Amino acid sequence: MRLKDKLVVVTAAGSGIGRESALLFASEGAAVAVVDFDGGKASSVVEDIRRQGGTAYAVQADLTSPDECKRAVDEAAIRLGGIDILWNHAGTPGPGGIEDVDLVAYQHAMDLNLRASVVASGHVVPHMRKRGGGAILLTASVSGLVGSQFSPIYSAAKFAVVGLGKSLALALAADKIRVNVVCPGPVNTPMLPDFMGRGLSAQEAKEVEAKFTAQIPLGRVAEAQDVARAALFLISDDAAYLTGVALPIDGGFTCR
Ligand SMILES: NC(=O)c1ccc[n+]([C@@H]2O[C@H](COP(=O)([O-])OP(=O)(O)OC[C@H]3O[C@@H](n4cnc5c(N)ncnc54)[C@H](O)[C@@H]3O)[C@@H](O)[C@H]2O)c1
Repeated sequence: MRLKDKLVVVTAAGSGIGRESALLFASEGAAVAVVDFDGGKASSVVEDIRRQGGTAYAVQADLTSPDECKRAVDEAAIRLGGIDILWNHAGTPGPGGIEDVDLVAYQHAMDLNLRASVVASGHVVPHMRKRGGGAILLTASVSGLVGSQFSPIYSAAKFAVVGLGKSLALALAADKIRVNVVCPGPVNTPMLPDFMGRGLSAQEAKEVEAKFTAQIPLGRVAEAQDVARAALFLISDDAAYLTGVALPIDGGFTCR
């Protein structure tokens, strides 16, 4: 059990990568606060975890609101009895392209990908200090390591998330809080068509995905489990000496 008795918060845990990770963390002994905008999805993950004999609580929150970010952290701390680990996983692809960029969509992407991580990370620090330390994980993307032709706003936000992770690693080391960042390539979740298919027909989207997959040395897009297992490593004591790492989980895509 790699997370025995750990008190873990995962945002955007109602679907995709967050859902698989919440289930995995609970199976490794953690009590998990499942935070999501969609309260129904969060409750269904909690039910699945409890059916497996694990401990979990649902917290509904819209993390585009700073007040909601703080409330979600505080509510999770009350339900769990403290917080050891926070994974700021919520994010969104944002607008494609740069000409006539939709500034409302731009702001939404910045608020969810970046500001939510800033606010929740700051707000969780006193909770972790009380526990004598902890770990924060942030979700960027390969688009936070190399530029994205199709998603420049998303890429800008995720580069900022990588910078935030490295900076918080420095700022919080004295509090024994480790901060790392996962940088997945394309992952087979409900969000994937948003990246590959914006403004395209189903056939065109398939062709874009096939082209992208051909550029991945390991020859496939990731499954949510691939990211969940890497996240488990980074938040567990197996990674006790790792902080400030931005880990590509991309089948070798960013090696070129
Ligand atoms: N899927 C990919 O290809 C991929 C690749 C790299 C990085 N990522 C990153 O992974 C994260 C999630 O991806 P996923 O593929 O698991 O997505 P997903 O679509 O499967 O799940 C996203 C979840 O976020 C929740 N959510 C949406 N808006 C929210 C808000 N305002 N407040 C709280 N929760 C909200 C949704 O209800 C949903 O349950 C994002 O940060 C994304 O940028 C995804």
